[in-house]
Amino acid sequence: MDFSNTLTTLKQQNLYRQIAPNSSAVNFCSNDYLGLKTNPQVVEAFKSGADKFGVGAGASHLLGGHFPAHQALQEALADYTGQQKALLFSTGYMANLGVFSALKNELDWALQDKLNHASLLDANQLIGLPLQRYLHNDIYSLEQKIAKQSGSGLVATDSVFSMDGERAKITDIANITTKSKAIFYQDDAHGFGVFEPLIPKHSIYMATLGKAAGTMGAFVAGSADLVDFIMQKSRPYIFTTAIAPAICVATLQSLELIKQGSQQAKLFSNIEFFSQFAAELDLPIQPSESAIQPLILGENHKALEVAKQLLAAGFYVPAIRPPTVAKGTARLRISLNSEHTKSQIEQLLTQIKNAL
Ligand SMILES: Cc1ncc(COP(=O)(O)O)c(C=O)c1O
Repeated sequence: MDFSNTLTTLKQQNLYRQIAPNSSAVNFCSNDYLGLKTNPQVVEAFKSGADKFGVGAGASHLLGGHFPAHQALQEALADYTGQQKALLFSTGYMANLGVFSALKNELDWALQDKLNHASLLDANQLIGLPLQRYLHNDIYSLEQKIAKQSGSGLVATDSVFSMDGERAKITDIANITTKSKAIFYQDDAHGFGVFEPLIPKHSIYMATLGKAAGTMGAFVAGSADLVDFIMQKSRPYIFTTAIAPAICVATLQSLELIKQGSQQAKLFSNIEFFSQFAAELDLPIQPSESAIQPLILGENHKALEVAKQLLAAGFYVPAIRPPTVAKGTARLRISLNSEHTKSQIEQLLTQIKNAL
């Protein structure tokens, strides 16, 4: 195995990944869309959870690691999403692997949006199903592909696409899916907490807690039978340590703040301001109603160069390159949050304009 050769090639292609220094630059790439990661009430809840339960779960859910705080959070999440039951996972990546892993013997086929998150694609591969993708958010393409399948299947989509910020046509996709007797599965990692969950009947809903909820972990929600079934069969649920109960106490507090809605109001005001000012500067930002605002620059070196200039000017917006996005669509993925000031947004966009 020649590791150094591969590393050299990655560097030559501007595809070498590095952990960014945690600088004092204004962070425009965090998924903490509502500023809950550092919200004093959430932090206080975390501390009180640690006082009560300690700092870890100590075991997997089924072998003594499931505390009253996990149970309370599952019930609160089921209630918030209007589903019969919810099941906690340790990360969103594992929740996606977990759902597919549970359904391994139930599925003859799966169809995925072309731009779905890597964890959904990996989940598909994990259970040995061929990876079949329909054109991005394209109902006609989905219909055509479904017509070619036989047996029982699943259609999976991100609800808010992680690198584009665009929202999936949930109702249309779910209608077509259920008409063909397949099951609809949405990954709402970037929508949960920001938008009201839109969960069609008889579908599977997954959301992560490490983004707008500000903590960590993920959950799957749906009918009681579906959730029980996943709990019985999902290896990434069964064979791993549960998230710390203190995290659940903190997340319960996050959920209360999400329900109050004032952080979302601040976020949406920032999104609107950002879009207007970007339009005034004539910046080619892709249209997006979510917190994720992409500026596609094409070549890897161009995205890296602009990101470097922004960092020097005090703004952290990393370049996103293949394989995270398609070749030739390297970009800046700007993530807005409720805590950004209008002046920070104005300065960021002005710097981008200058860099281009
Ligand atoms: C759409 C989507 N699904 C799943 C995940 C994985 O979630 P987690 O970071 O909790 O593993 C992410 C992001 O990381 C994501 O963007």
